[in-house]
Amino acid sequence: MYQMAAVIMLLFFSVLVSLSSTNRADIVTTLGVNYGELGDNLPMQTESVKLIQKLKANWVKLYSANPQILKALQGTNIPVSIMVPNQLISSISSNQTLTDQWVGSNLLPFYPKTKIRHLLVGNEVLSSWVLREDKLIGQNLVPAMRRIKASLKSYKIRNVKVGTPLAVDVLNPTLQPSKAYFRADVAGRIMKQLLEFIESTKSFFFIDAYPFFTWSNNNRTISLDYALFEGGVHQTYKDPKTGLVYTNLLDQMLDSLYFAMKRLGYPNIRTWICETGWPNGGDIDQIGANVYNAATYNRNLVKKLHAKPPVGTPAQPGMIFPTFIFALYNENQKGGPGTERHWGLLYPNGSNVYPVDLSGKTPETVYGPLPKPQNNKPYKGKIWCVVAKGANLTELPSALKEVCMHGNRLCDPIRPGRECYKPVSIVQHASYAFSSYWAQFRGNGGYCFFNGLAVQTTKDPSK
Ligand SMILES: *[C@@H]1O[C@H](CO)[C@@H](O)[C@H](O)[C@H]1NC(C)=O
Ligand SMILES: *[C@@H]1O[C@H](CO)[C@@H](O)[C@H](O)[C@H]1NC(C)=O
Ligand SMILES: *[C@@H]1O[C@H](CO)[C@@H](O)[C@H](O)[C@H]1NC(C)=O
Ligand SMILES: *[C@@H]1O[C@H](CO)[C@@H](O)[C@H](O)[C@H]1NC(C)=O
Repeated sequence: MYQMAAVIMLLFFSVLVSLSSTNRADIVTTLGVNYGELGDNLPMQTESVKLIQKLKANWVKLYSANPQILKALQGTNIPVSIMVPNQLISSISSNQTLTDQWVGSNLLPFYPKTKIRHLLVGNEVLSSWVLREDKLIGQNLVPAMRRIKASLKSYKIRNVKVGTPLAVDVLNPTLQPSKAYFRADVAGRIMKQLLEFIESTKSFFFIDAYPFFTWSNNNRTISLDYALFEGGVHQTYKDPKTGLVYTNLLDQMLDSLYFAMKRLGYPNIRTWICETGWPNGGDIDQIGANVYNAATYNRNLVKKLHAKPPVGTPAQPGMIFPTFIFALYNENQKGGPGTERHWGLLYPNGSNVYPVDLSGKTPETVYGPLPKPQNNKPYKGKIWCVVAKGANLTELPSALKEVCMHGNRLCDPIRPGRECYKPVSIVQHASYAFSSYWAQFRGNGGYCFFNGLAVQTTKDPSK
């Protein structure tokens, strides 16, 4: 019996191996794009779908279930991932009627004509900052995913996978893949439930992985070339425990996730890179965010993902990683540092920030030269935060009032009679307030943006 089983297993296994090796040669790499909508100047949905096709993206991920986009995608053959908003997770987790209603009104009107293939539950729900704001969302996540799955089943929908995109901060901050584990506050029940759900439903671990952030936070220890897949054989990282040799930062991040899952008993779960990319611009105090690096990262990523046979990573050789690049557009209404508004492959007017072909079929020699990077090293001079050119002046008084309510008597010097009162101008006063606010809070989650009213400058505004 025992031997027989082993023979059958062997046979089965070799069939599997030969199947997968023949399939892998002609398998189509999934390389899609994240279609974020946080801009007040973005093209119409139908126009956007045309632009997605022009980029040769073969999948699109949304941060919503925007019916206009789902309608525009009808008949295009482009698979789409839609998202349940974070705010609904807790009510969905405890209410099947509500879940069925959500699926019924967001997915059913378009499915199957629109190829909805993922229902993603929330966005980066297990990140520390999200859990700080909503104590229950973490424990409600997997119950909500189960209800969504049950709902799909009751509608007899079998080809829509349920998942949840998570940021790499679910892992401890280590650069040694073999030493990676899930953050203590999620590693227990939540992560075990999640991995069990993913495995039993044959879904994916959806991870948002940005070498840009890891590199810029470690700009003295990690080389930029290594983060951009340009390190070659001269810049490698050897994991001291496994001896595996890494040639780029993304692989290091992907294998960290692999080892963390393996540690909890799930070495076979597949990873889907739900967001990755490189910013094409940013603030003066940020580094490496420029068109040159963005083009280099994304083009090299495309090349790596389309390689035949698939290269995988050192710990997962040959593995195929379906991937969504972030993002379709530069989105002018995203808060935070300047890079947040500069992840696009396209400008809002629809033209390319730099040429890129996500199908991997355009040889690089066709692309013209890129503008040389100016900010790969930290800016050393002084920086101020002032009212932006073209800022909406009607909004300045209330913004000024709001800023002055923060901080330690931040605005005293611009009160009547004080040293910075003159010249009496709302722009001058606001620039003063923005700069001092930013000087006080920039290490602490404060940015020079103020809803688009402010920008960084190297010119002293008091001169
Ligand atoms: C569940 O959701 C339905 C539909 O929104 C609502 O009518 C019902 O009151 C909810 N049940 C509970 C217990 O909250
Ligand atoms: C460069 O890395 C250091 C830590 O090594 C960090 O403090 C600094 O903020 C980084 N610089 C930039 C511009 O991100
Ligand atoms: C689109 O916008 C970019 C950035 O503002 C600009 O450089 C480019 O010239 C514009 N293209 C067209 C065709 O208007
Ligand atoms: C300026 O802001 C005001 C108040 O928010 C708004 O009503 C107005 O439309 C804005 N003007 C422009 C040109 O955006």
